[in-house]
Parts: sequence; structure tokens; C-alpha cells
Amino acid sequence: MTANTDTNPLALDFCGMRFDSPIVLLSGCVGFGEEYTRVAGFSNRDAGAIVLKGTTGAARLGNPPHRVYETPLGMLNAIGLQNPGASRVVREILPTLDFSETRFIANVSGSTIEEYVQVTQLFDDSPIDGIEINISCPNVKEGGVAFGNYPDMSAKVVEACRRVTSKPLITKLSPNQTDIQENARRCIEAGTDGFAVINTVMGMAVDAERREPVIGNVQGGLSGPAIKPIALLKVHQVHQVAKRHGVPIIGQGGIINARDALEFIIAGASAVGIGTALFYDPLVCRKINEGIREYLARHGLASVQQLVGTLRLPGETPVVRTSAS
Ligand SMILES: Cc1cc2nc3c(=O)[nH]c(=O)nc-3n(C[C@H](O)[C@H](O)[C@H](O)COP(=O)(O)O)c2cc1C
Repeated sequence: MTANTDTNPLALDFCGMRFDSPIVLLSGCVGFGEEYTRVAGFSNRDAGAIVLKGTTGAARLGNPPHRVYETPLGMLNAIGLQNPGASRVVREILPTLDFSETRFIANVSGSTIEEYVQVTQLFDDSPIDGIEINISCPNVKEGGVAFGNYPDMSAKVVEACRRVTSKPLITKLSPNQTDIQENARRCIEAGTDGFAVINTVMGMAVDAERREPVIGNVQGGLSGPAIKPIALLKVHQVHQVAKRHGVPIIGQGGIINARDALEFIIAGASAVGIGTALFYDPLVCRKINEGIREYLARHGLASVQQLVGTLRLPGETPVVRTSAS
């Protein structure tokens, strides 16, 4: 059963997609939407949307081991976009997904602009609800952050993908760049409908006994609670630009509970991504939904949308919206 927007305080419209919850399960942490469905008590219905694993034109085997490494308060990963290739995802995986449970969003990657376009086109001609362009993957040698760290290149990728799809287009921004606001501005001009902020932060781990990097790819992407303060700042910065154009953000990076999710929403995120937290607790989404619901009731808010971007900066007068306002 789909909840009614009027009665479900967690529901929202994200770039024309109806989410029953602000929670989005993040790319790379839920396989192709089936990863946790065998866990007792887990339901895709607890998420407003699910972003599928990063997909490229040709199949990729990914990076050599080790690919993941646990750090204090997080993890490093360098999977290297292992995936079966876009046509197999569209032909063989999408038909197995239950689109009545949640929205499914593809995550598109490539080594060239042509590859981004090719993959976007394949998903455009599929039942997928939306398309996220990953211009911020730190774990592949070509493409990825090579596009996302430069506003010109980011805009070129977005513009090219925009031309071949009318589906909601979300651009995933990198924290590993000098001026995320300029990048956001250029992506909006190029036609993005929404943003995902942030991808992982580049890092490495060293094995002192062997005097070697732990990760096969030498460097990896840091995720989990360690990156939450960085992610909050980037969401706040992108929101300052995006709110003027009505462009919504999926805030992400280290969210593990309802309190974290609320902080991102207040900083400017319309929806919140859960990734690494699922590895610790696959059932965390239900608890986060309940926690947000409880906060809204306690603060007299009828909808989570009333909370988006309500951060009060020093010197500003309090804007405390209630259901009456
Ligand atoms: C194991 C792993 C694989 C990931 N794969 C992808 C990917 O294929 N595409 C992508 O855009 N982001 C990928 N990410 C990044 C996440 O989607 C997310 O942006 C990041 O981990 C921050 O959120 P978190 O701290 O809640 O995990 C991956 C993250 C992890 C931990």
C-alpha cells in the first residue's frame, strides 16, 4: 500500500519522484536492490528510494584485493565499480525488482563522456525511476573524480546525459574538490534536477609490518561516521546554491541514526542516504524513520519537508516552522 502524501509525514516529492520516506539506500551498499532482502525484518519499503550499484558500459571486474578496510568510525573501500555492464543490468536485473515497494535509481559511471551517455541512454529506455550520475568515484583510474573535481568537466557530463534522458537526473558530487559550490552552480546550469552530496573522501591505510598499502588500489574512499562533519558542511554549502533553483539534495556521509538524519535535513537535505550504516545494522532504516516521526511530532511539524534547510546561522532570527505555519 502506498501511503498518502497528506497523511504520511515522511513522504516527499524528489525531482518528481514520490518517496514514502526521506531515506535513500546508497549506491554500492545494497547491490542491485536485493542485497538485504534475505535478512529477516528488512524491507525495501522502509526506504523512499534505492540507488543501484555503479554501472558502466562494459562489465567490470573491479580492483584487486584488498578492497575494504575497517577504520575507526568508518571504512575504506576501493571496489572499482565491479558490475555486469549496463545492458545486463537493464535486461536481467531490473525485471526482478519490485517497483511497487520503492523508487529505484540507477548509478551511472564511465571513463569517457560517451560512456556516461551510452549508459544513461540504456537506463532512459528502462523502467528505472531516476538516474544518478557518479562523477565522484575515487576508486577508478579514469572517469570518476577526474570528471567530478573540475566544474567544466562536471558540467560537460551532466549536459551530455541531460540531452539523452527526460528521467530525473541527480548529480553525485565529490568532497575531494576545491569549490563544491561552483561545481553545483555549473551542474544546475547544465540541467541536473538534484544532487547527491557527498561521495566518499579519499584516504589510505598502511600495513606497517609489510610496509605496503592495505588497499590493492593503494587509495580508497572513506565512508561512515568519520566523514559526517565533512558531509554536513558540503550539504550546507551546496544547499546555499541549490535552494535558489529549487534543486533538492540527498544528503549522505556517515548517517547512522535518526539524529544524524535530522541534522542533514536541517542543513538542507531533502532526503538522506544510508550506506555504511547498513553493514552494521541492516534494519537501521525502520529505526531512523521512527526517530524522524517522533521528532516531527515533538516539534509540531506535519511534514519532514518543513524541516529542510531550517538551519539558523549566527545573526539570523529563529525560523521555527510548525504545522500551523
Ligand atoms: C562498499 C562501498 C561501495 C560504494 N560504491 C559506490 C558506487 O558504486 N557508486 C557511488 O556513487 N557511490 C558508491 N559508494 C559511496 C556511497 O554510495 C556513499 O556515497 C558513501 O559511502 C557515503 O555514505 P555512508 O557514509 O553512509 O556510507 C560506495 C560506498 C561503499 C562503502
